[in-house]
Amino acid sequence: MLRTHTCGELRPFHAGQTVTLCGWVDKYRDHAGIVFIDLRDRYGKTQIKFDLADSSEIQQQARHLRHEDVVQVSGKVVQRPEGLANPKLSTGEVELLVNEFSLLNKSKTPPFEPEGQSIPNEEIRLEHRYIDLRRPALQQNLILRHKLTMAVRQYFDRLGFLEIETPMLGKSTPEGARDYLVPSRVHEGHFYALPQSPQLYKQLLMVGGLDRYFQIARCFRDEDLRADRQPEFTQIDVEMAFVERDDILNAIDGLVAEMTNQLRNEKIELPLKRYTYQECMEKYGSDKPDLRFGLPIVDIGEIAAECDFGVFKQTVAAGNRVRGINAKGAAEKYSRKMLDVDMKGLVAEYGAKGVAYFKVAGGKLESSIAKFFTEDQQRAIVQKFEGQDGDLLLFVADTFKVTSAALSAIRNKLGRELELYDPRSMQTFWVIDFPMFTWNAEENKWDAEHHPFCAIHPEDAEYLQTDPGRVRANSYDLVCNGYEAASGSVRVHDSKTQARIFELLNIKAEEAEARFGFFLDALRYGAPPHAGVALGLDRWVMLFTGGENIRDVIAFPKTQKAADAMSGAPSVVDFKQLRDLRIKIDIPAK
Ligand code: AMO
Ligand code: AMP
Repeated sequence: MLRTHTCGELRPFHAGQTVTLCGWVDKYRDHAGIVFIDLRDRYGKTQIKFDLADSSEIQQQARHLRHEDVVQVSGKVVQRPEGLANPKLSTGEVELLVNEFSLLNKSKTPPFEPEGQSIPNEEIRLEHRYIDLRRPALQQNLILRHKLTMAVRQYFDRLGFLEIETPMLGKSTPEGARDYLVPSRVHEGHFYALPQSPQLYKQLLMVGGLDRYFQIARCFRDEDLRADRQPEFTQIDVEMAFVERDDILNAIDGLVAEMTNQLRNEKIELPLKRYTYQECMEKYGSDKPDLRFGLPIVDIGEIAAECDFGVFKQTVAAGNRVRGINAKGAAEKYSRKMLDVDMKGLVAEYGAKGVAYFKVAGGKLESSIAKFFTEDQQRAIVQKFEGQDGDLLLFVADTFKVTSAALSAIRNKLGRELELYDPRSMQTFWVIDFPMFTWNAEENKWDAEHHPFCAIHPEDAEYLQTDPGRVRANSYDLVCNGYEAASGSVRVHDSKTQARIFELLNIKAEEAEARFGFFLDALRYGAPPHAGVALGLDRWVMLFTGGENIRDVIAFPKTQKAADAMSGAPSVVDFKQLRDLRIKIDIPAK
């Protein structure tokens, strides 16, 4: 080994010992004949000192050290004099007096300093990710990711689960995104699809009798990217046979408790709360509400129907909804402009035409439109919201869908701006009983809300033909701080029901046979009842770090445009490679 200790290790009790450290030059200072360097590695930083009074060659070389040079230094550990300790460093009570030195590798002037004053923009960081990775904050994230993965493996191993790998080169599975395709050289004109998830394979493992499966699985989806989405990401993928819904929920409850215990040293209360999809939409306007704070949505349809405010009255008459939120104590925090311009602009993104708002004062409402409400109506509204003087009531009138989306956005904005929660806290709960199908108005057809392999609630089977929108899947999502952190379902395990669901989804029998024939066939050979779930590992790491950017927890993430800024992938390939694959590129000239 080139070193005896790490840069985060030395303490006063090492004083007097001769040690060797290796690391990167983090900071250098030339102080009247003495050069100080902060030497950095992933364990920390140590101050090293070259005394230039001694004019040996080593001391002269020290003068030329610059940011990110890699060096090896040996010398004696000395305790820093009283008052000169640096409490910001774990090694801050000592320093190393160098008497042997070797420049292991000179660095070009780096495009940024890992521990510079400000964090450079992400584009530059991703382009030079190997330098960015020297940033302690990023290293901490990757260390946390490692710990989480280890905790997951130990947990499932303890419960008798088997970690089984499934193919990357496979057949397209229907998670709803576009596939990444891989052309086959051997089978001309044929393609593999990279897995959007191991969904079909894990179900086949259940048919294969492997009973309890998990995998830290890479997934690939060609979809629009967001701060919480990567084209290539990792799932904690789980499937169990001979179980019911609650067995999965309990197993994952245990996992969440284990992760929280290992990463935060905190106990959480089990079982995690469970809300139905309907309850969530009604109370929070979202199927993934942030429950670190309250601010429930309240419907005032009955009062709105009677009032003289045209917008409200007509909305209810048309069979739609008038719903609102009480921003507690916020009456003075939001100016007219903030409400009439910013808040209105926000809800417009979700299709809402406006926001009506009132201040609560003296048990009644104050606003330019308060005159359209009788005193009784005003009191009734205040009562519904448990309003107190100084509260701000915000309303949106529209369809259930639009009011839900708009009020959910308002709720998130208020939660953040009114600082209603500790950003590092975590609130995790289940949402169950999602609709099985959603109407795709663009293509005039039903789509599977989750995927077509979810079992439905038996009592809803009668609506399969008559009212598919009413059919509830036996499915569940785990939600944490407003993110969808896991998703799963009890599966269909008989080929007849499965075929019926394909039919409803407008997947023709021949098409189903061509795409999933092997799978439907497997269901005909003794498929056991089974259920499963997949947690977004990257999202969980992000949640545990308290961050909001999934790229900060992935060593080599893709940019917002699904590119690797460092290597330049995706890139053009040799003509010969294409010829072997019999692929011709047909891009119209610009
Ligand atoms: P689903 O598609 O909901 O379910 O994915 C499961 C979980 O994976 C995470 N996730 C993502 N994370 C980062 N980037 C992405 N692009 C991305 N897409 C999804 C989310 C999500 O909850 N086969 C089913 C699971 C099952 O039914 O067992 C599936 O993949 O946290
Ligand atoms: P108007 O009648 O357009 O002058 O609107 C009066 C107030 O009602 C304004 O504050 C609008 O933002 C608000 N408003 C208009 N449409 C809606 C709606 N659909 N839901 C809630 N408030 C609305």
